[in-house]
Amino acid sequence: MKTSFVLPLVVLSLLGILDAGYLTYNKINNIIPPCSSGFACETVLSSPWANVGPIPLSVFGLVYYAFLFILTSLTLMEIKIKVGKLKNEDILLLTSTFGGLFSLYLIFIMGVLIKGWCLYCLVSALICAFIFTLNAFHYFFVRRKKSFILKNRIIASGYQILKSMMFLFDAEFVHNRMTKTGKILGNHNFLRKFTRFLFDYKDKRLVKKIDGMVFKNPIGLAAGFDYNADLTQILPEVGFGFQMIGSITYLPYEGNTKPRLGRFPKSKALLVNKGLKNIGAQAIIDKLTGLTFAYPVGVSIAATNKVFESTKEQLLDIANSFRLFEQSQVKHAFYEMNISCPNTFGGEPFTNPKRLKMLLDVLSKLKLSKPVYLKLPIDQSVKETMALIKVAVPYDFVKGINIGNLAKDRNNKYVTEEDRKLWKSMKGNLSGKPTYRKSNLLLKEAKVMFNDRFTLIATGGVFTPEDAKEKIALGADLIEMITGMIYEGPQVVGMINHELATSKRK
Ligand SMILES: Cc1cc2nc3c(=O)[nH]c(=O)nc-3n(C[C@H](O)[C@H](O)[C@H](O)COP(=O)(O)O)c2cc1C
Repeated sequence: MKTSFVLPLVVLSLLGILDAGYLTYNKINNIIPPCSSGFACETVLSSPWANVGPIPLSVFGLVYYAFLFILTSLTLMEIKIKVGKLKNEDILLLTSTFGGLFSLYLIFIMGVLIKGWCLYCLVSALICAFIFTLNAFHYFFVRRKKSFILKNRIIASGYQILKSMMFLFDAEFVHNRMTKTGKILGNHNFLRKFTRFLFDYKDKRLVKKIDGMVFKNPIGLAAGFDYNADLTQILPEVGFGFQMIGSITYLPYEGNTKPRLGRFPKSKALLVNKGLKNIGAQAIIDKLTGLTFAYPVGVSIAATNKVFESTKEQLLDIANSFRLFEQSQVKHAFYEMNISCPNTFGGEPFTNPKRLKMLLDVLSKLKLSKPVYLKLPIDQSVKETMALIKVAVPYDFVKGINIGNLAKDRNNKYVTEEDRKLWKSMKGNLSGKPTYRKSNLLLKEAKVMFNDRFTLIATGGVFTPEDAKEKIALGADLIEMITGMIYEGPQVVGMINHELATSKRK
């Protein structure tokens, strides 16, 4: 911290010591200090709020300023202090924020409850305000990049406390509350900006142009979280570089029977059996028409979750969703064709080469105006998956492959034994860590076999910057995630981006 910042802080804390010391001296000797006319020092200083139990409030002020004085003096002398991961500047920022907030509380008491002002208390509040402003200024304009990590860590710790409370409630209930909150945040300019301040991390080195779209960073929200397209206005501020909405189906579906969303915390997984719950393509189009998006929004499309009389009927259902979006005014940027939803009546009818070809033939006739990415299952073997991708090679409109969807294999060795036993008696499939290794293996093989023919989107088990880096090293152009955000907190998106950008510099 530069002397030009620290020196005023030393002087201000010294002034604080004088002010609080003077008040403490008078209080101990039962003297009411002289007060200018218009002020009500006596009323305030002899009010019940002037003490905490037997201790005068000014003693706390004295301790606070003394602490700041010592800390700023040490900082001035370039003596480094560390409390956990917090350094001199971090401790200063935290204590001065606390002091600023406490002064606001005292002003509230004087102005609203006592309805009289004490000159010395106002001087103290002013000193606190200056100390806070200087620290905040330093934070925003001098060390913003560095302090991103501090801010991110503080939010991460707060999120873990919040998570332990949220995990006491039903997973779908919590998800619905979160979506409602996100929708409210997205509808107000100020709240959007505040969310951006808390979470977003921007860096030119992260910007990518892919298939004609500009991604401010490669981390996107995977399909299934914003299935009714409520969060397009807030998620860019959380730090995502793109998002999927859906999966959307032509006809609405109220979801499989409850419970259809669960948690396996020990396996860092979610149990998903929603069965493509969504309000249907037309209702979603109505919702999105007229909105602009700060980043590429992809529409994930799947077949309606119902029993079809024939494959032809099922293909028509899928084509109808695409047609509706093509004819709409929605400003989406691309499509994801979800052929791998495991929780539906018909299973996964297009995950063998012959039937995938049938689907792609139908889609190619639609002459789609936007790129299509294909979302694959991850439970097929490497050979089967490569054979499936090979089918897509001649279809120019298929620009990318997303690897991939949920884990179905009940013997998945990345699920703890206890959870595996539970899982065997439950409906649904797993997201999160149980998907990580297998999706990485398929990604790696796809990169080797198809090189740059497809944009490769890596989905599955990204919880940390290292996870994202590994997927990128294996060939991923873009990354999608859900479960990591739920277990680690939304700030993890910014942290991943921060690490990706800074490791590029190294
Ligand atoms: C609650 C939930 C709902 C999901 N719904 C869909 C969906 O509708 N369409 C889809 O393609 N994938 C869906 N998925 C799968 C995710 O998009 C993703 O492929 C999978 O969760 C692995 O990523 P993760 O480990 O980062 O969560 C869903 C996942 C979750 C957790």
